[in-house]
Amino acid sequence: MGAGIAQVAIEAGHEVVGREVAHELCVKARDRIAHFLQRKVEKGRLAEDGREAALARLTLTTSLDELAECDLVVEAIVEDLDAKRALFEELDGIVGADAVLGTNTSALSVSDIAASTSTPDRVVGMHFFNPAPLMPLVEIVRAELSGDDAVETAYALAESLGKRPIRCHDTPGFVVNRILIPLLNDCIRVLDEAQVSPQDLDTAMTAGAGWPMGPCALVDLVGIDVHVHASEALHAKLQEPRMAPPPRIVAMRNEGLLGRKSGRGFYSYESR
Ligand code: 3HC
Repeated sequence: MGAGIAQVAIEAGHEVVGREVAHELCVKARDRIAHFLQRKVEKGRLAEDGREAALARLTLTTSLDELAECDLVVEAIVEDLDAKRALFEELDGIVGADAVLGTNTSALSVSDIAASTSTPDRVVGMHFFNPAPLMPLVEIVRAELSGDDAVETAYALAESLGKRPIRCHDTPGFVVNRILIPLLNDCIRVLDEAQVSPQDLDTAMTAGAGWPMGPCALVDLVGIDVHVHASEALHAKLQEPRMAPPPRIVAMRNEGLLGRKSGRGFYSYESR
């Protein structure tokens, strides 16, 4: 997700510093972005020098200190509240006083993340959708103590990326996941109830309901682990049975079948 957001930002002309936890991940992120920009060049949607210029705007680092000059940071690390809180606490002491801190969390509370900083007024949710370069929506989430300036800065940035931002409040799952997560869980339950294969279920929902991609392909794209986590988080907060992740997908997560990112989920994938 982080690479996708960085790609969109460099394409829109922003200087980007991407931070990964290991050098190999920096190399992988640059390769991934370079690949997708190259595909655009091949399809005539981007000039070769536009690709070069975009890549020149991207710096990758393993050091958080290199974010010191950033005006806005979009965090897209693992969906773990403690990890996010620890990162925001650290970022709070690194970036300048006017910098905005955005979190791309899917289902955690932005207010809980913001509470780890001494400046919760500059923390907002900036929730992108997968794949970030292709999906227009960004949910700009106002947490309990978010200031107007931070909300509007994040909104303006999303617009500058060519996205279609919406403003919403910090409620469980915000807008899309509040609706999509239980719906995808229903789809997964139907696999067993109707004894239908993932391929046939995906055909059913694309050919019969007009979805752009089937639910199994979508959960593979989002990440089985991310989906299970979001389901558990929403279920814990809203207590609706449909929010709970079906056992079938929890088993997949436990077996390391995480979807595209691990090479196998409902389907098998080549690496990238
Ligand atoms: N990053 C960057 N570029 C990508 C990409 C990625 N991950 N994936 C594909 N592309 C590029 C490729 O270059 C590709 O062209 P190529 O195959 O010729 O190289 C190009 O985009 C077009 O890709 P597709 O041909 O696959 O595009 P489609 O027209 O089939 O549309 C789609 C793809 C936009 C993903 C469409 O299927 C769709 O809208 N699916 C639904 C996705 C969705 O619902 N996402 C939301 C998930 S929920 C979420 O993210 C919330 C979170 O909190 C869990």
